[in-house]
Amino acid sequence: MATIRCDVLVIGAGAAGLMCALTAGQRGRVVQVIDHANKVGKKILMSGGGRCNFTNTGTTPANFLSANPHFCKSALARYSPADFIEMVERHRIAYHEKELGQLFCDVSSKQIVKMLVDECQAAGAQIRTDCAVQRIERGSDGFHVDTAQGAFFAASLVVATGGLSIPSLGASGFGHDIARQFGHDLLPTRAGLVPLTLSGTHQQRLADLSGVALPVEARSNGMAFRNSMLLTHRGVSGPAILQVSSFWQPGDALELDLLPGQDAGDWLRRMKRDRPSAELRTVLAEVLPKRLAQRLCEHWLPDRPVKQIDEPQLRQAAQLLGAFPLVVSGTEGYRTAEVTLGGVDTAQVSSSTFESRRVPGLHFIGEVLDVSGWLGGYNFQWAWASGHAAGSAV
Ligand code: FDA
Repeated sequence: MATIRCDVLVIGAGAAGLMCALTAGQRGRVVQVIDHANKVGKKILMSGGGRCNFTNTGTTPANFLSANPHFCKSALARYSPADFIEMVERHRIAYHEKELGQLFCDVSSKQIVKMLVDECQAAGAQIRTDCAVQRIERGSDGFHVDTAQGAFFAASLVVATGGLSIPSLGASGFGHDIARQFGHDLLPTRAGLVPLTLSGTHQQRLADLSGVALPVEARSNGMAFRNSMLLTHRGVSGPAILQVSSFWQPGDALELDLLPGQDAGDWLRRMKRDRPSAELRTVLAEVLPKRLAQRLCEHWLPDRPVKQIDEPQLRQAAQLLGAFPLVVSGTEGYRTAEVTLGGVDTAQVSSSTFESRRVPGLHFIGEVLDVSGWLGGYNFQWAWASGHAAGSAV
């Protein structure tokens, strides 16, 4: 089989890879995109409950975690949420803001994948699925890549293979292997935006409340996220927990404010004044899910009329309601994580072109790099911005 020659070979037809391919193709570069999965953009299809939270209008560099918090700035500034929205509108994809700047498709995330594939086609970029890479070698003028569909030769090689989360959607550590092969350092990886697990008495006392949801402020390591939380069979999930999970590390404390936005002490004193004969579990059930209010009073809070709660007990109860300490045993891991924290060290990659500082012509984009966004459309914005930056440079 003859070698397929191109200017740019992109490995990974996910969010960042497709954006890079269409951008490079629009500049007249001859582009090939290969993916080992049987479909392109599987994570896009799964995302946002099938409606793809494709960007966040409030994206700033502060919404990203990386050993180098400055690395993401240049690409984010050069390709903004408004740039992506312009493409979405040009393709007549209806969308809406859910909350906090998060934009979702009205109908289906399939529309985002179709838009990217159509743009690739219009720009002449060819996409091949079921194309696993067997070997990569660098010659004097480019990269020789052997695959299940024959040999490729490209002047530029773009690694857009994503992170380790959800292997069943095609995720692999292949991008990290390529980085290692070419002498790049990797920062330790761990699951981010992931449900947390509990053990011991917390798990025993809360497990049967699985399905109960409530607004909380979840705090760990100096970060605080106010949003909803969901109790699960094995622990806790929901947006507030997923957000804080990226900052939590084994052994760290995690606190929940169960009455976010109000001072628990003031609230308890008000109840004591206005509803002295009411049981604490009754008044608590007016501000918390009933089953959780009962469970708190069975195990952690005074189970009696509020008038019988003296000031020291009230202060203790307020402390628990305002900063309930959860003993977290771990995370649910890559099986359910939305992102991978860590990855290819950005110190050896240009923040402007995403080219390796070690190997000319080699680029890393998207989640394979040590840049991860908060929950809420930031990770796709990073994929679009880094893909666009590399696509403009290759
Ligand atoms: P991405 O994972 O998109 O693409 C990598 C591609 O490389 C895949 O097509 C894969 O098959 C391919 N590949 C991997 N190994 C390969 C190999 N060895 N050879 C060839 N190809 C290979 N973010 C957000 O902003 N809004 C949201 O709503 C969501 N929702 C969401 C839901 C779920 C369930 C998950 C798991 C994740 C999200 N995310 C999200 C995160 C978002 O999906 C993620 O950050 C981006 O898809 C990352 O884009 P990349 O292009 O870097 O990787």
